[in-house]
Amino acid sequence: MIRMINQNQTDSSHWIGKMQTRIFLIGFMGSGKTTLGSSLARKLSYEFVDMDHLIEETAGMTVPGIFSEHGEKVFRKWEYDILKELCQRDKVVIATGGGAPCHGEMMSIMNANGTTIYIKLSPPALKTRLLQSKTERPLIKGKTETELLDFITDLLDKRESYYMQAHHTAEGINLDVNNLTELLRKS
Ligand code: S3P
Repeated sequence: MIRMINQNQTDSSHWIGKMQTRIFLIGFMGSGKTTLGSSLARKLSYEFVDMDHLIEETAGMTVPGIFSEHGEKVFRKWEYDILKELCQRDKVVIATGGGAPCHGEMMSIMNANGTTIYIKLSPPALKTRLLQSKTERPLIKGKTETELLDFITDLLDKRESYYMQAHHTAEGINLDVNNLTELLRKS
């Protein structure tokens, strides 16, 4: 059972372990990594980094722009470079791109350099959230609702073996920052 911790306690970092100086939130597109990650960072008084935003800032282009001009392979290379750079930082919560853990060595790198949490949602829940999202995502652009559900189901099936390598799994529906801090406190 997940107990609630003191709502008024804004800085929870006193119980944080050594491995928890870097916390990686992983999971499919639309699982809520950015929203949860920024709340968690605030709660721990950590820096918050959204990997996609950092890639965009560094490249001076949007993620869809990188995909269309350079292709996914180049995007994955830049994602890897940014990840290596992030592994030098301390006291940071990182919302990763949905594909990052599933390419090259990125999942092992995250597991070796911090604490990883998989935010797990079902394909129908992801579909609903992605349909409501304003973020442009090249991998799902132009798909109908039915195509989207099939796409999510197939891709999640391929990706879940990577996501399941995370140190922790948190069911994403109704998940809030208190659940995440409790998970970290107990580990
Ligand atoms: C991708 C997920 C996106 C972004 C890119 C590719 C993926 O991030 O990195 O569009 O391969 O699943 P979000 O998970 O933040 O949407």
